Amino acid sequence: MSYPHTRLRRMRRDAFSRALMRETDLTPADLILPVFVREGRGEREPVPSMPGVDRVSIDELLHVAGEAHALGIPALALFPVTPPEAKSLDAREAWNPDGLVQRTVRALKQEIPELGVITDVALDPFTTHGQDGLIDATGYVVNDLTVEALVKQAVSHAEAGADIVAPSDMMDGRIGAVRAALEAGGHVHTRILAYSAKYASAFYGPFRDALGSAGNLGKGNKYTYQMDPANSDEALREIALDLDEGADMVMVKPAMPYLDIVRRVKERFGVPTFAYQVSGEYAMLKAAFQNGWLDERACVLEALTGIRRAGADAVLTYFALDVARWLRDER
Ligand code: PBG
Repeated sequence: MSYPHTRLRRMRRDAFSRALMRETDLTPADLILPVFVREGRGEREPVPSMPGVDRVSIDELLHVAGEAHALGIPALALFPVTPPEAKSLDAREAWNPDGLVQRTVRALKQEIPELGVITDVALDPFTTHGQDGLIDATGYVVNDLTVEALVKQAVSHAEAGADIVAPSDMMDGRIGAVRAALEAGGHVHTRILAYSAKYASAFYGPFRDALGSAGNLGKGNKYTYQMDPANSDEALREIALDLDEGADMVMVKPAMPYLDIVRRVKERFGVPTFAYQVSGEYAMLKAAFQNGWLDERACVLEALTGIRRAGADAVLTYFALDVARWLRDER
């Protein structure tokens, strides 16, 4: 009979030694809550493909934000449900100083100044065709004209008080253009979270339902600007460019099917790296929970720990409030 020289099970035997050797942690401070804001008062409208997620009016959002802050979640990411009559070919509602996003930012910063507010810089909630940019006669999203529009949008967010602007459009050169305009406008503290490695993913479907942009996009797709899911070296080039242009943080999106990208980015660049567990990832997990096929709490904590272990400093997740409550109750 020979005995194993090294017994890895020894350290796994008791909770105290498991706790001591745990490499990755998950705290509310690692989470960002994405929220859908709509017009009206006292509104909480469920998103059918995202059970547990609502489109809420600003007054209701202040309650959600208050809870997030009390639970230790550092920031919210805002996404507007734009009424159809405010959408146009030139997306001008995107930089309306009294637009829904701008009003929401002001309300949040007035009510809970310590809570970070992240705004999405992209035109899809505001275009009649649901593309993230301006299109030419063939339907192609034109890069440089779009960047000019994105700059106006980002500056209007900064003027409203946004702490972080997050270009999610994947146009070339937008980070540099936004950074230059922010500096010129005196918004030197406004941070940029670049959605640098954003893939042309089918997992965004429920999000487009939530915003009501799915109908606008129709059979269209975003292949000419979002990345091919088959690519990884290209993601590193995108990240390098965005950092060079002035990004403060970078993002990989979606999260779970792209954890190798998160790891490569973190290892190569060593910069604040975020991952977005997107609407489709939320929807598929929720569907399994609702069917009783998976255990919600255990699977959500495992999924998020995995994203952190891959190298993400923070995770955008629609589970943020639930997770923060579970972590609080554990203590
Ligand atoms: C818009 C945007 C999208 C998401 C965040 N910002 C959708 C898209 O690019 O079509 C997706 C988020 C999610 O699915 O949860 N530019």
